[in-house]
Amino acid sequence: MTTYKKTKDNTLDNLKDQETLIRRCTLDDLDAVIEVNERELPEDYPYFFYKSILDDFPESFLVAQNYAGKIIGYIMWRVEKTPSLDSLRYVTKGHLVSIAVSQEYRKRGVAKALLSNSMATIKKYKIHEYVLEVRVTNYSAIKLYEQFNFQIVNIKKKYYRDGENAYYMTLNSKKS
Ligand SMILES: CC(C)(COP(=O)(O)OP(=O)(O)OC[C@H]1O[C@@H](n2cnc3c(N)ncnc32)[C@H](O)[C@@H]1OP(=O)(O)O)[C@@H](O)C(=O)NCCC(=O)NCCS
Repeated sequence: MTTYKKTKDNTLDNLKDQETLIRRCTLDDLDAVIEVNERELPEDYPYFFYKSILDDFPESFLVAQNYAGKIIGYIMWRVEKTPSLDSLRYVTKGHLVSIAVSQEYRKRGVAKALLSNSMATIKKYKIHEYVLEVRVTNYSAIKLYEQFNFQIVNIKKKYYRDGENAYYMTLNSKKS
């Protein structure tokens, strides 16, 4: 298992508690990332999906690990070219695919650290805006995104497999 010391050179802007490390995800981490996802979120994805995001956008696929090297959170993004909402132009967007933090490590700023570090790196793809979907009842996540100045611009009806609606939230990359 990767130790805290060994990965220290590979770290980003980390948490102040010195016990949680934010760093780039590697192929060896994928099983642990999937474990966190399956425990913490109803949306799950096949292994190849994670692998393709890691292959294509490795700089913004980050993990949080505890002092013992255990993966306790992750965030992954992809870059997309889609039509803008207000014109026929195509714009480049950083799309937040998934973020989760293990229950026992929540409310310590881990998600904030994952978001701020990954938003800084995905910006390098010259994105016009950051976009994401969130369940309309996921108050803690909505609050988190609002702290980063994301705004609700739309509701996607029955976006999730169980029929729940999603808020579509965006943030102009120049405002981040
Ligand atoms: C949403 C989630 C990622 C937040 O992780 P976290 O590490 O606990 O978040 P942080 O400690 O960095 O908190 C950042 C901000 O999020 C908001 N927040 C987090 N947990 C909250 C809660 N239980 N109630 C209200 N607001 C909350 C607050 O605005 C908080 O800032 P504050 O501490 O200054 O009040 C975590 O709850 C989670 O993994 N949930 C399950 C997966 C999920 O819903 N992912 C999002 C899918 S769109």
